[in-house]
Amino acid sequence: MRSIATFLFGLAIATPALANVPYLEVPACPDKGTITYNQSVPDKTDFPKTQVDLCYGDKSISITFTAYEETNFYYNSSYTTNDPIYEYEVMETFIARGTNDPQTYLEFEVAPNNVTFQAFIFNPSKSSPLDTAYLTTPLDDGLSATTTLDKPGQTWTSKVEVPLGLFNVDEGQAKGTEWRMNFFRTVVSPSTFPEQELGAWSPPDGDSFHVTPFFGDVRFV
Ligand SMILES: *[C@@H]1O[C@H](CO)[C@@H](O)[C@H](O)[C@H]1NC(C)=O
Ligand SMILES: *[C@@H]1O[C@H](CO)[C@@H](O)[C@H](O)[C@H]1NC(C)=O
Ligand SMILES: *[C@@H]1O[C@H](CO)[C@@H](O)[C@H](O)[C@H]1NC(C)=O
Repeated sequence: MRSIATFLFGLAIATPALANVPYLEVPACPDKGTITYNQSVPDKTDFPKTQVDLCYGDKSISITFTAYEETNFYYNSSYTTNDPIYEYEVMETFIARGTNDPQTYLEFEVAPNNVTFQAFIFNPSKSSPLDTAYLTTPLDDGLSATTTLDKPGQTWTSKVEVPLGLFNVDEGQAKGTEWRMNFFRTVVSPSTFPEQELGAWSPPDGDSFHVTPFFGDVRFV
């Protein structure tokens, strides 16, 4: 017989819009809002500690991704801008302006060798992306990453700038804006490839990161 717990679990899966998502306040630079996460997707088991520091400036969002407990530093050296670097190890953010569960959002990723992936995703089902609009000149756009590896310290860090204009926030107008974001990391080694461990700030209920009702709430204060 179905227990109440099973029934409630089934209900939660069927109505992801009711997901209880985390909230972050992000100050103007040089102050920072900080999140750390250590839960896998979708099972919420232990995952290597991952940190994200955010602040906003006049023209861009500054994001520092820090991967702790990293032992693989695994990437494909033949991959370049906008190649599927997410098959290997990356840190990622999905970003949309506004408060609703987004249908369109920026997907930004960086690999340990500093290669980036950047595209707007069109995902009208909010759970299964339909189309991908690549940003093909990220450096001209002001979308950049600077990556440092500390192999003895088992850490890699990428400092990223994301232009506010991509979200129609004019110069100096970011204070008070509201956002939906999620942050992710993939972990895989040569011996486990292509099976990845996935981690998230707000873990979705399935193997895909693209379930927008799970994006956290973010406010620029
Ligand atoms: C995961 O993070 C939580 C909250 O920051 C912390 O209490 C917990 O000890 C961490 N777990 C591990 C295994 O590091
Ligand atoms: C890197 O990607 C290329 C192109 O998909 C593939 O042929 C190659 O085997 C990959 N290398 C590694 C180390 O996985
Ligand atoms: C990484 O790429 C950026 C552009 O996105 C560049 O400015 C930087 O010098 C590159 N190298 C490192 C080590 O971060």
